[in-house]
Amino acid sequence: MPSIDATRDRLARVGQDHLLAFAGELSPAQLTRLCAQIDALDLERVPAWVDKYVRSGATRAGGGAIEPAQYFPVDPDARRRPWDRGAALGAGEALLRAGKVACFTVAGGQGSRLGYDGPKGCYPVGAVTDKPLFRVFAEGILATSRRYDAPVPWYVMTSPLNHDATVAFFKTHDHFGLPEPDVMFFQQGAMPSFDMATGRILLADKDSVATNPDGHGGAIRALAKSGAIEDMQRRGVEHVSYFQVDNPSVRVADPVFLGLHASAPDSSGEFSSKMVPKTDPDEKVGVFGVVDGTLQVVEYSDLPRELATQKGEDGRLKFLCGNVAIHAVGVAFLEKLAGDPDFELPFHRAVKKVAQVDASGARVDPGEPNAVKLEKFIFDAIGLAKSSIIVETDRVEEFAPVKNAQGTDSVQTSKALQTERAARWLERAGARVPRDAHGVCECLLEISPLTALDAEQLGERLASGKVNADHIRAGQQVSL
Ligand code: UD1
Repeated sequence: MPSIDATRDRLARVGQDHLLAFAGELSPAQLTRLCAQIDALDLERVPAWVDKYVRSGATRAGGGAIEPAQYFPVDPDARRRPWDRGAALGAGEALLRAGKVACFTVAGGQGSRLGYDGPKGCYPVGAVTDKPLFRVFAEGILATSRRYDAPVPWYVMTSPLNHDATVAFFKTHDHFGLPEPDVMFFQQGAMPSFDMATGRILLADKDSVATNPDGHGGAIRALAKSGAIEDMQRRGVEHVSYFQVDNPSVRVADPVFLGLHASAPDSSGEFSSKMVPKTDPDEKVGVFGVVDGTLQVVEYSDLPRELATQKGEDGRLKFLCGNVAIHAVGVAFLEKLAGDPDFELPFHRAVKKVAQVDASGARVDPGEPNAVKLEKFIFDAIGLAKSSIIVETDRVEEFAPVKNAQGTDSVQTSKALQTERAARWLERAGARVPRDAHGVCECLLEISPLTALDAEQLGERLASGKVNADHIRAGQQVSL
């Protein structure tokens, strides 16, 4: 560990020596902790970051003309772009049977919009059972592993904010029935938060730097640094099914998507994405667009309103492809990026309120945004793939995110979507579900992934009598 003088010199060279302003007031243990936190920062790059991202109000990377992205329609027989669903399913199932697929969840975020203190994956979401997000995913992974008789390892990215609590949650719940060695946790990196006006790094306390997780884009370096990529290679994993911690309806390790990703002629098998068609220009999802010839996700906050509202000839939004943050990523691609010393995803800047101690040592809880946080986004790697495909998915089937405490994308809207999907699966299999005059389900329904991973499997289970869904009545809560 470097001496305090060495740390002070490093800080002075980059104009951030105020971080040790209160060193004289700290106990030796506090000082050691602070210096360790500072030494872990990539200080030499701070001046360039401040110039590029903190002082400038830069938003969308590239800034050039945006064109809508092409995609595989959810209906493989659509005249616009027919594709062979059976072949994709076969290719994906072969990968799963050979144990070449792992799941990867990014769960390092702060979840501040939800107003929930613990790791977001511990949040109760099951429409009837209130089971937590992590259990929903674990059941999907377990069911997939059983169906294809092969291990499906699961990599979970946490951050310093929630790592210990996440690992403890899995332990308390016996890893939700998954074999413990098949669940790996690793932490993403941290970035300092900057004073918006001066570019100085903020002190959260006299003995700690204000930091934030470095965004899910930090995953690529963290996957390599933690040994997760090596672990995947040792296990023979070739592709990862990537999803965010907030969407209980995600079809983990979807064989059709994995098959298209790995074998469609226009896919390099490096980085593929699912999308849902946006219906409302104000919906807070990023959209896929081709910017200066390169496919990328343009965040909702960066898409100019006149583009967000533009309609195509078919009357649908022109920028239709909403990013649901479900991807398939090749392990060889991850290794190639992480092994390249010049590989660097851009930072995105967010202006936030960050509590700090000021120059006099007083604690300040700002009433207005005072800080810039910098984060990397994993989807900025799409443009680095040789070619990348997008596959449409149905909103009810696969997108019921829990992001806010109330209103849009809350647990209430998620439960309604989970119920609607379960109702569709049941009705397809011939069961009756009570609906009101507007077609809205008059009951709450939840189907565990262990019962069925899709409508076909539910149909088989009902037909064989393994699952019974007779006589569902209005007002009931039914968990299958
Ligand atoms: C995200 C996408 C948006 C997409 C939407 C779909 C980004 C920047 N935007 O928006 O394009 O349409 O989801 O639901 O992702 N996370 C980490 N570490 C971090 C930050 C975040 O692991 O440092 C994880 C979170 O735990 C969460 C996910 O990344 O699982 C998304 O983060 P969030 O910031 O909530 O993105 P959204 O605004 O919901």
